[in-house]
Amino acid sequence: MISNRSVTTVCYQIYRGKTGESTKFQVRAYNPYFYGMKIGSVVLPERALILAPMEDITDAPFRLLCKRFGVDLMFSEFVASEAVIRKIDKILMKMEIHPSEHPYGIQLYGKETSSMVASVKIAEQYQPDLIDLNFGCPAKKIAMKGAGAGMLRDIPQLLKMTAAVVQATHLPVTVKTRLGWDDNSKIIVELAEQLQDTGIAALTIHGRTRAQMYLGEADWTLIGEVKNNQRMYIPIIGNGDIDSPQKAKQAFDKYGVDAVMIGRAAIGRPWLFREVRHYLDTGDLLPPQLVKDQVQLVREHIAMSAVDRPEIRAVRSMRRFFAVYFKGLPDFRETRVKLLQAESFEEVNRLLDLIGERWGYLPAYSSTESVAK
Ligand SMILES: Cc1cc2nc3c(=O)[nH]c(=O)nc-3n(C[C@H](O)[C@H](O)[C@H](O)COP(=O)(O)O)c2cc1C
Repeated sequence: MISNRSVTTVCYQIYRGKTGESTKFQVRAYNPYFYGMKIGSVVLPERALILAPMEDITDAPFRLLCKRFGVDLMFSEFVASEAVIRKIDKILMKMEIHPSEHPYGIQLYGKETSSMVASVKIAEQYQPDLIDLNFGCPAKKIAMKGAGAGMLRDIPQLLKMTAAVVQATHLPVTVKTRLGWDDNSKIIVELAEQLQDTGIAALTIHGRTRAQMYLGEADWTLIGEVKNNQRMYIPIIGNGDIDSPQKAKQAFDKYGVDAVMIGRAAIGRPWLFREVRHYLDTGDLLPPQLVKDQVQLVREHIAMSAVDRPEIRAVRSMRRFFAVYFKGLPDFRETRVKLLQAESFEEVNRLLDLIGERWGYLPAYSSTESVAK
């Protein structure tokens, strides 16, 4: 009789092939009874929690904070393949990885297959654990030029590019995309199969169309349909509107995804990952984080931001976080405006002292929502 251990090994070897695997064995390979999930050679725990790539947000200091709260996989902000090829310093810096960030993926976007392949070869030098292709960015300046979500309007080119990248690199390649271009073209169920056939190692689906941008509610039903498609064997990562431990649990229980990716809800609230993990593991909600702990966290965030930036740039880079840190505190408006206008560490520190004294023992913001869409 074959032992569980040997089944695991057999399944893993089968999974490593890029195409033509047997669905039957692949399904067993992802059975969490044997282990969590694998994205190529990257092993993640069962019900993995992933930090969404977010331009101008998920820089190294923020990623390291999230990592401390238990994120299992992180990505760079998206990086334009054309800018990588032209070796633009500011862009190349976005691919740099701190040793403690692994497992880590570099996300690339572009329109031309040749540029994408060339940029992947450069990205490899930064030693990421995987390469992620962005076919989901809805921004006009990107999607209307045929990159990001714009690729959803040319599926043959999207598939050709993906296959070429898979062939070009030894790293696992993943894709992040949306349900489709608009309401009339929600093609994700078929597209997921086609992408899998190119040899990608996992697929992230944001439950909106490009036309929706970030409006309305994420629709998880099609994400669930992809996951439950008998032909699919690669891990499916669900994304969209998860802002509480309960919603994360529902994404796993109701839609069966292998991992959830959290974006906006983690901005100013990186401890959300710890809250979600605790709830998934125990069924209990952690007591809320106190504002005084949040103050300490913000101090550390600023200190990390200052490592490779001059003071003024470090303080300004924190403004996008100050806009949401301390969300929901009573009578906080005036203090927030001061935080947003601060130009030095001294000013920020004084304000943080004040916040600690005045609001320190109040609970920090946490979502009261409990039902996933
Ligand atoms: C400010 C911001 C920047 C983003 N930048 C990226 C990006 O660089 N790459 C990407 O794939 N998605 C990007 N996204 C989309 C997120 O990764 C995620 O798919 C989306 O926010 C939905 O997840 P959420 O509801 O958990 O935020 C960005 C979203 C926001 C709000």
